[in-house]
Amino acid sequence: MGGRGRFVSRHWIGVLVGVGLASLVVSSGGIPMSVSAAPSPAKQAILDLAARYVCPGRVDTFRLLGTQPVMGRREGHYFWDVDGRRLFDVHINGGTFSLGHRNPEIVAALHEAADRFDIGNHHFASEPRARLAEALARTAPGGLRYAVFSSGGSEANDVAIKTARRATGRRRIVSLEGSYHGHTGLCLAAGDVKNAGYFLSDGPRSEFTQVRFGDLDAMRAALDPGDVAAVMIETIPATLGFPMPPPGYLSGVKTLCEDHGALLVADEVQTGLGRTGTMWAVSGYGVDPDILVTGKGLSGGVYPMAATLLSPRVAGWLAENGWGHVSTFGGSEIGCQVSLKVLEILERPGVLENAKAMSDVLGRGLEAIRERHPLLVEIRRNGLVMGLRFGHELAGPMLTAAGWEVGLWAFFAGYDRSVLQFKPGILLRPEACDEVLGLLEAAITRCEERIGRD
Ligand SMILES: Cc1ncc(COP(=O)(O)O)c(C=O)c1O
Repeated sequence: MGGRGRFVSRHWIGVLVGVGLASLVVSSGGIPMSVSAAPSPAKQAILDLAARYVCPGRVDTFRLLGTQPVMGRREGHYFWDVDGRRLFDVHINGGTFSLGHRNPEIVAALHEAADRFDIGNHHFASEPRARLAEALARTAPGGLRYAVFSSGGSEANDVAIKTARRATGRRRIVSLEGSYHGHTGLCLAAGDVKNAGYFLSDGPRSEFTQVRFGDLDAMRAALDPGDVAAVMIETIPATLGFPMPPPGYLSGVKTLCEDHGALLVADEVQTGLGRTGTMWAVSGYGVDPDILVTGKGLSGGVYPMAATLLSPRVAGWLAENGWGHVSTFGGSEIGCQVSLKVLEILERPGVLENAKAMSDVLGRGLEAIRERHPLLVEIRRNGLVMGLRFGHELAGPMLTAAGWEVGLWAFFAGYDRSVLQFKPGILLRPEACDEVLGLLEAAITRCEERIGRD
């Protein structure tokens, strides 16, 4: 294993260990940046506490990767490690910080809401909840009208599965290989088998089937028995590295669902809320799902919020059984006020157009980088949902580590480590595009040097 100043053996890459990375002194874009070998004592104390009381495995993995962010100050596109390093955030927690870190308008909405509201009583009708549901229905595709609120995307996906089962009287759920829908009960079973199997929560397998992304024949075969309640799909699968749906794929899935009496659930936790330049990515593909799930960005990055949007056709249980699903924190009144502000910002003239325009600016810059760096082999891009595929099976984690060194926080795709997820906030401006492209290129250069030496 590499010691100080040495790296990257094949073994290192294999186990994602970045010991050597941490002792380099680097310079990027004229800004000298020192990568200290060890965290400051104050930061180390936080890491120790987290390892002792929160999640030792996570702290250890980041240590091995050579990147140990502990978030301090945060503002706009950036957050700062508590040791001072400034990072341009293109991970944005899957869209949670799509409107920036601590967007001042959203923080103000949170303060105002806290002055007037609290969580509220989830059993009662509530003005913030009803107003937010109305606003979501206004933006939603295909007449989705009802909103069931949750405090996270996983719970919202569980609600989607429960609804589909209730509406169809069927149990089986079809999803995609390499999909990720969260870590609670039903959606965990619907996602990649490895995660669910670990907790013995992957079954019964007869109720959860996975098929290959982009393969309509496989989807047809899965639906043919006529026992499928719903097909649950991330519009552009995030953890798989944002492969773009092949032309006609999503509309083909929708038609197959209709032909087989199954419902279509669009998991838009990462792709929704303007990230592709339309409010919902699935609308950009001309598809109306029966159920749409949103989360992450709905929080404005400051208050946990998620929602499952239901068409009246599938929402019978809401009328039949008012307590069919309950969640104490789902639809907290303070959170609803925050989410209303998120939607208000997204609906302003020019905001979604800006996402598209900045995507084009970045697209041009990324093509230029690809010409200079053959390691970058594919640019996957729909609006500001982007995956960069590299010609090395572990380039993703290597780039996460190199990005950390040069001041870019980007995370690799968990189910395809040749891919770096690249998802800037949607209020991006051209100057910031230049900056982030410069940081990315600096990281790629480092990565190439390391692979060259391997
Ligand atoms: C596509 C998708 N669906 C669902 C979830 C689960 O959301 P949460 O972590 O808020 O439960 C995630 C989280 O990363 C996600 O990326």
